[in-house]
This record gives sequence, structure tokens and C-alpha cells, in this order.
Amino acid sequence: MNNHPLVLISHELPAAWIAALTDRYQVLMGPRTSAGGGLSAELLHALPTAHALLTLLTVKVDAALLDLAPQLKIISQMAVGVDNIDLAACTQRGIPVGHTPGVLTDATADIALTLLLAAARRTKEAAADARAGRWGLWEPTQWLGMELRGSRLGIIGMGAIGAATARRAQAFGMEIVYHSRTAKPQIEKELGATHLSFEQVLATSDIVSLHTPLSAETHHLINAAALAKMQPHAILINTARGAVVDSHALQHALENGIIAAAGLDVTDPEPLPANHPLYQLPNCLILPHLGSATETTRRRMAELACINLLRGLDGLPLQHCANL
Ligand code: NAP
Ligand code: GLV
Repeated sequence: MNNHPLVLISHELPAAWIAALTDRYQVLMGPRTSAGGGLSAELLHALPTAHALLTLLTVKVDAALLDLAPQLKIISQMAVGVDNIDLAACTQRGIPVGHTPGVLTDATADIALTLLLAAARRTKEAAADARAGRWGLWEPTQWLGMELRGSRLGIIGMGAIGAATARRAQAFGMEIVYHSRTAKPQIEKELGATHLSFEQVLATSDIVSLHTPLSAETHHLINAAALAKMQPHAILINTARGAVVDSHALQHALENGIIAAAGLDVTDPEPLPANHPLYQLPNCLILPHLGSATETTRRRMAELACINLLRGLDGLPLQHCANL
């Protein structure tokens, strides 16, 4: 059996993206979608004999799942965020967890800018007004938004995507401030960015954009108290993970003028149910977690996930490892 490793892929991927795996190994692939995003019954049944598992961010990998898979040598996630995976439990079992940073940075920063521009210029509200017949004569004071040039962008989590978002915003004439646990002197030099405390970023930014991983430390980082520190004209952008923001507190802040608007690519829960009140707010633009959703980027993510997986099966250090 060890000479014929079984590779499980949690959900269907285009054949061309995973050719590196199918060329070498027996591969069992799950369905395109599954209830709750977890493993299908067929894949759960195959776990006891599986040597490698390629996951999407919807698959909860916990100790209970790992106990069903005693032969696993590698878990390779097709995403940079690994908050769905119990890394400590993997480490305890000596299982490396691969992930895919870098290849998705530009595509995700593009979506952060899409939300930033749309929220600053009130496009959801204005487009809905036009569609509903509320577009009268050109009026000097109607649908006035925020001028980006000269406005201040506060990045929370100055990593790869945070920096790529800041670069784009700087090209629009924005001033950049940021908060990360450690200062980033190179980014400060490149963008003239200033490292501030979390509270200072909230209190002084016109737009706050979230780019941290989801962790125990960042869960509900943006709660009612944090929102209250922001300025009433400020905008919140979230392309990180939904649970970095307390959804109820955000809804209250948007409904009561505590902040002006929000642009979300990620929500809590995901998917956000169609009847969720946040959709009804004219000052809240919601996208369905499509940060990395370009053909080029998703293919690169899959290919990098395959590289990590193959290296794990060969007992080699992964190109990008989130734990060991
Ligand atoms: P990254 O390069 O590791 O950047 C994350 C940054 O967050 C790090 O520089 C880290 O800096 C900072 N950070 C961590 N904990 C923090 C805390 N408690 N407070 C403040 N800053 C903190 O990762 P990335 O590639 O930019 O990705 C970031 C996240 O974006 C991913 O984890 C994922 O959840 C999300 N994402 C979403 C999409 C999407 O489709 N919407 C796509 C890709 C990624 P310090 O260590 O100095 O604090
Ligand atoms: C997407 O959200 C990722 O973490 O890659």
C-alpha cells in the first residue's frame, strides 16, 4: 500500500490544474460542492487508507478527522488562510500543512480595492437609486462620496495582501498608516507608511482595511468597541476572514451612523444567508468571497497545492508550510 499512496482531493478541481498529482498517484476527488463544505461520505470512507489530503478552506480539519486518517503524511490546503485546520493537532501527529501564499496576493488586493472604491463612491446605493427611478436631473450634492486623494487608509495586518492593497491605494493618492504586531520598516520606506497602534489606526483612518489571518487573537477584533473608535465618515473593508468582524456589531454600526459604510468579501457566517439584514443596507456591499477568483490565480493556487502535496509525500520540506 505504501508504494501506491492514495491522494484525496476534497472537492472537484479542473484536471489540468492537478495533472502533477494524477500523473503520479491514485487520486480520489470529491464533488464540486458538499453540504457545509466538508468531505463527502465517499472521501470520509477513504480517509483510513489516505496518505495525502488536498483541502479547500471550507473543510474543517480537526483532531477527530485526523484520527480517521492514521496514514496521512501531508495536508495541502489550496488557500493561504489555514484557520479551518487545527495546526496544533497536525503538528502533534507530525503532519505538515501546506498552503498557498503569494500567488493570490494581487488578485485579492484587487478585490480589496474594488470594495474600497465602490464603498467610497457609494456605488451600490447610487446604482440602486438609478435602477429604481430615483435618478432625477444631475444634482450637485447627490451621492457625494469620499475623495481618495488625500484620504488616509489604515491597514490592519501589513502582510503580503495588506502591502499590495496599500500600494494600490497609494497610487490613488492615499496616505498609508498601518497596524501589525511587528513594524515593517521596508514597507514604511517604500510607501511612506506609518506604524500606529490598533486604536490609532481606527481613530484616524478614513478607510480601514483588514488583512490579518483569523486566529484566537483576531477573532472579533472589530467588535462594537473597535467600531466606536472609528470616525462616523469612515469605511471598513474586510477581505481577511468574516469572523475578524462581529457581524451584529457591524450591522448596528452601519444602521446607526457609527461608521459610514462597509465593503465585505468575507462574512460570518459564510455563505451569508440570502435573507441576512446586512444585504439590505445601502451602505454595505457584499461579495461572495471571491478575492482569489481569477482563472490565473486559482490555477496557480492549485498547482502550488500540488507541489506542496508531492513534496510532503516525498518527505521533503514543503514550498510553503503553515506549521512544522
Ligand atoms: P500574511 O502575508 O501572513 O499577512 C498577514 C499579516 O497579518 C502579517 O503580516 C502579520 O504581521 C499580521 N497579523 C497577524 N496577526 C495580527 C494581529 N493580531 N494584529 C495585527 N496584525 C496581525 O498573509 P496574506 O497572504 O497577506 O493573507 C492574509 C489573510 O487574508 C489570510 O490569512 C486569509 O485569511 C485572507 N485571505 C483572503 C482572501 C479572500 O479571498 N478574501 C484571499 C487570500 C487571503 P505581524 O506578524 O507583524 O502581526
Ligand atoms: C482565501 O481566502 C485564502 O485564504 O486563500
